[in-house]
Amino acid sequence: MRTQVAIIGAGPAGLLLSHLLAERGVASVVVEVRSRAYVEKRVRAGVLEQGTVDTLVAAGVGERLIREGLPHRGIELRYGGAGHRIAFEDLVPGREITVYGQQEVVKDLIAARLAAGGDVRFDVGEVTVHGADSDAPHLVVDGERIDCDFIAGCDGFHGVSRASFPDGMITEYERVYPFSWLGVLAEVAPSADELIYARTGRGFALHSMRSPTVSRFYLQVPSGDRVEEWPDERIWAELKARLETVPGFTLATGPVFEKSITPLRGYVAEPMRHGRLFLAGDAAHIVPPTGAKGLNLAVADVRVLTAAIADWYATGATGGLDAYSATCLERVWRAQHFSWWMTTLLHTFDEDPYAQRLQLSHLDYVTSSRAAATTLAENYVGLPYGDEA
Ligand code: FAD
Ligand code: DHB
Repeated sequence: MRTQVAIIGAGPAGLLLSHLLAERGVASVVVEVRSRAYVEKRVRAGVLEQGTVDTLVAAGVGERLIREGLPHRGIELRYGGAGHRIAFEDLVPGREITVYGQQEVVKDLIAARLAAGGDVRFDVGEVTVHGADSDAPHLVVDGERIDCDFIAGCDGFHGVSRASFPDGMITEYERVYPFSWLGVLAEVAPSADELIYARTGRGFALHSMRSPTVSRFYLQVPSGDRVEEWPDERIWAELKARLETVPGFTLATGPVFEKSITPLRGYVAEPMRHGRLFLAGDAAHIVPPTGAKGLNLAVADVRVLTAAIADWYATGATGGLDAYSATCLERVWRAQHFSWWMTTLLHTFDEDPYAQRLQLSHLDYVTSSRAAATTLAENYVGLPYGDEA
């Protein structure tokens, strides 16, 4: 068969790309190795930048997001026995983030694609990439050839698209952290109205939420820990030890219904394009989750790619395609820096007392200087795309 854009991966990047391309009259096929049920249940991100929300709403897939998403105008940094609010409404007026589970975004996008008659194929077997550097790129999916004008590699960090770049074409930049995040979903009302990023001598903890009755937590754990080593009682004891550090705060507990462990790493592959093959989202870059940027970067990539491809179809212009990698990488590196900065600010991993003093001084600065707090706030809510009309 033939399509215009063959998209590998039905995560947020691939699905949104397919949707935005359709809006611009460009046809696509999405191929996904997992089942629909699996991708709709995969629990991950929760923080959507203002720009991500605006993108989804403008694309007509924000109706439930606006209804059920939880807008936030600040976060708390908790350390040294006190909480400090970073007030977005004061520091970056008019900008906010929305807490809405990534799997809800994925469900909304799948529903929209299928309602529009979109071609999204789940449960495919082997996917291979061919002719990326020719004028006849194509995928072979379970033996079937899909000819196209462009291939979008939206298949996450472990996918096939980055791996099919020729040897030596990609320069990789990587930072692996010596700890992971244990993520937990629990049936209990959030114990605070806003997210709490807590730094303690025992390690980092994050209090987040999904709804008025579901809380989301993360704990810094040593690399290599397995979920079996974290029975519910141990999780609650550790969350209490790391979060009940300010007067009057009690953590409400409830049944845990999801647990997973994610290693923390920063990674960038440059360039994000080889001929007719374009990488977007986690296929090209990973950030440690402390800055809540991964999903938002995937959305930013897809905006740039949609505009470039739509332009090519409309006018034959290749400027957008040629600039794709450099345009995306500018934002990617800003997010890499912010995510590294938030990670080193809040985790305890360096035994060196000098480094610990620096960290506390840094936290004191961020929570007392308007300039430093604004740096955090403007990065957290998301910097402008630069393509706004
Ligand atoms: P993915 O979501 O990984 O999707 C890729 C898809 O491709 C998958 O469905 C996969 O099954 C499929 N695939 C893989 N290989 C193939 C193949 N060979 N053929 C076909 N299909 C294939 N980001 C934020 O912005 N905010 C947050 O608060 C945040 N918190 C996070 C918390 C955790 C615990 C984790 C793990 C991540 C978090 N992230 C966050 C990051 C965010 O989840 C990712 O950046 C996001 O999923 C990237 O989307 P994607 O579509 O690029 O990749
Ligand atoms: C969530 C995830 C993050 O990585 C983060 O920094 C804040 C919140 C969440 O899943 O709710």
